[in-house]
Amino acid sequence: MKDVLILAIESSCDETAAAVTKNGRTILSNIISSQIDLHKLYGGVVPEIASRKHIEKINQVIEEALCEAGVTLKDIDAIGVTYGPGLVGALLVGVAEAKAIAYAAGLPLVGVHHIEGHVSANYIEHPDLEPPFLCLIVSGGHTHLVIVKDYGEFEILGRTHDDAAGEAFDKVARAIGLGYPGGPKIDRLSREGNSDAIAFPRAKIGDNPYDFSFSGVKSAVLNYLNQASMKGEEVNRADLAASFQKAVVDVLVEHTMQAARDYHMDKVAIAGGVASNGTLREAMSRACEKAGLKFYRPSPVYCTDNGAMIGVAAYYEYIKGTRHGWDLNAVPNLRLGER
Ligand code: KG4
Ligand code: ZN
Repeated sequence: MKDVLILAIESSCDETAAAVTKNGRTILSNIISSQIDLHKLYGGVVPEIASRKHIEKINQVIEEALCEAGVTLKDIDAIGVTYGPGLVGALLVGVAEAKAIAYAAGLPLVGVHHIEGHVSANYIEHPDLEPPFLCLIVSGGHTHLVIVKDYGEFEILGRTHDDAAGEAFDKVARAIGLGYPGGPKIDRLSREGNSDAIAFPRAKIGDNPYDFSFSGVKSAVLNYLNQASMKGEEVNRADLAASFQKAVVDVLVEHTMQAARDYHMDKVAIAGGVASNGTLREAMSRACEKAGLKFYRPSPVYCTDNGAMIGVAAYYEYIKGTRHGWDLNAVPNLRLGER
């Protein structure tokens, strides 16, 4: 059978990324141009700057992706692109680019849900992984616990009621002066701290045991900092980072394990930027081992935003027959499972 090559484009937030994938799970190239250095001057992503930077970089990133894969547009079978959720101006750059290339080259266009991309990152390095499995998606904008019933088919068991897990990491990092993006910095600083030093709350939410809430732990951290400052006490930032991280990770692991038990799942995966967190990876791996479940996680480069994961998701959509028209638009609040 002929190989299926996908050129995939991702521009939903602050990474301009493109990749070429072969037959779904083989990555021929994965080029990521990060805007982090620019946004960190402002302590977070500035949407207007993100869109402008995507426009500046996107052609170059795509050319590099094709070049590194050793192919031209003539070898490509379809163009995959993230069309939501994300920042509308940022998404539009990728969508407009994908439509232009697909139209000019006479190729089919496959719009991809960003979260479906994150989940699909797990397929890259785990050739044995196939649905159904349980997946915890934890990123800067999303926290979802889902059953991946089939490729691109999800049953959402739980979600966050307020902040996403990554957002909580970023806000706490900012409060202790670590700068943006906070997740990797808290991850690093925590290694020098004692995670039992401060007892932060593990929130329980309403009736759904799989839902999450991180605003409580975030407020508890801010209160702790205020009280210390009023008393003129020095805060041990490493202990605080480690204790906060433990509070978040404990809840993520507990809810995931509960769902795995309740739904009799034998495979558990994690995805999204926060899935690159060392403590989460270790804790989830340990919990799965103890429960006799297989545990899957992408390498850190495939956890944070990248084009390869979009290419993998686009492939499975492509072989199912998903095609988008020239009216494909950016959908900033696209829901999981919507087409
Ligand atoms: O998936 P992603 O690149 O973008 C979104 O789709 O949101 O996730 C970015 C988020 C940021 O909030 C960042 O702080 C967090 O992932 N993150 C981490 C780590 N690396 C990135 N959080 C905790 N530990 C990390 N090592
Ligand atoms: Zn993402």
